[in-house]
Amino acid sequence: MLSFHEISFWKTKEKRLLNMESAKKVILTGMQPTGKLHLGGLLGATNNWQKMLDDYDCLFFLADQHAITMPYVPAELRKNTLDCVAQYIACGLDPERCKIFLQSHVIGHAELMWILGCITPIGQLERMTQFKDKSSKVGESVCSGLLYYPVLMMADILLYNAHLVPIGEDQKQHLEITRDIAQKFNNAYSETFVLPEPYIGETGARIMSLQNPAAKMSKSDKNQNAVVHITDSDDVIRKKIIGAVTDSDSKISFDQKNKPGIANLLNIYAAATDQSIEKSIAQFADLTNYAPFKRAVADAVIAKISPIRNKYLTIANDREYLLSVLRAGKEEAQKRANKMMAKIYRKVGFLID
Ligand code: TYM
Repeated sequence: MLSFHEISFWKTKEKRLLNMESAKKVILTGMQPTGKLHLGGLLGATNNWQKMLDDYDCLFFLADQHAITMPYVPAELRKNTLDCVAQYIACGLDPERCKIFLQSHVIGHAELMWILGCITPIGQLERMTQFKDKSSKVGESVCSGLLYYPVLMMADILLYNAHLVPIGEDQKQHLEITRDIAQKFNNAYSETFVLPEPYIGETGARIMSLQNPAAKMSKSDKNQNAVVHITDSDDVIRKKIIGAVTDSDSKISFDQKNKPGIANLLNIYAAATDQSIEKSIAQFADLTNYAPFKRAVADAVIAKISPIRNKYLTIANDREYLLSVLRAGKEEAQKRANKMMAKIYRKVGFLID
């Protein structure tokens, strides 16, 4: 039986721990479940996210509403979404230490998007690089959802008052507009939103195609030799990396302009081995041809990916487990979203019954 003093000691300790928990900053980020996770998403995204689990209050979601802004097949989206949950977990996003949920499961993302859209100038959305790139691909049939894409992204972030948003380079502009509009809302309706900071890793923030180092590595690349997927076998990974387009020189140096293929492989190597670019260059400074370097990059990528692939293969078909992870994530996310939306509705003047 515990004495009164012991009970009050443990209660104080528990309270302190709970306060520490609630004082943790919120990290939120997401990914579109449009296909298999590739090396860019792994090194530029999930690899950084899983390092944050202990120090932050982490919310990770799958942006399925964003995924319908480009042509897609509904049955594939449904399948890819659950598959991505398995890939998140396999990459180290332990559901015991973070929340994983679907954007479309939580009421609030689309509602907040509408409100933020009402203070976002169209011109600012039309100037977004990603909108210009993607709309040029679909031409005349470009949908308004694509234009609104960054507004939905703002809502994703601001709905949970995220302090830090880990992203790759390509999403930086979307973070900047999020901060702009959050500030605009705060000025118009009083202090409401935290201004979120982007978190861009030192290495891996922009992994390029292995076949065309001028273009970002992308799931939708028609040339599959350009993309390493986390489900690729060791042999396939090795073949793709050894076959990466480089240049006719033979010295390893980081020169983005003249040696973009080698710069990309150095970036991949540094991110996969968790060391700086400088240290990576020093390691290969004496080489007189690219072959041993490419072999070392392939080894590093295989060492990174193979445990992830094995974990993925053990959970990918456990539909009940994956759905239970999403249910727990949704429950927590919805609780937070409800609280925030009640506050926002009041501020913008909606009548609350
Ligand atoms: P998405 O699905 O295109 O990419 C997910 C994350 O992976 C990063 N990434 C890369 N990083 C390095 N090299 C690459 N080749 C590479 N390709 C992708 C992306 O920068 C991103 O961080 N709009 C977002 C999803 C989203 C989101 C959000 C993110 C929706 N709402 C709110 C953060 C916060 C997207 O389409 O990511």
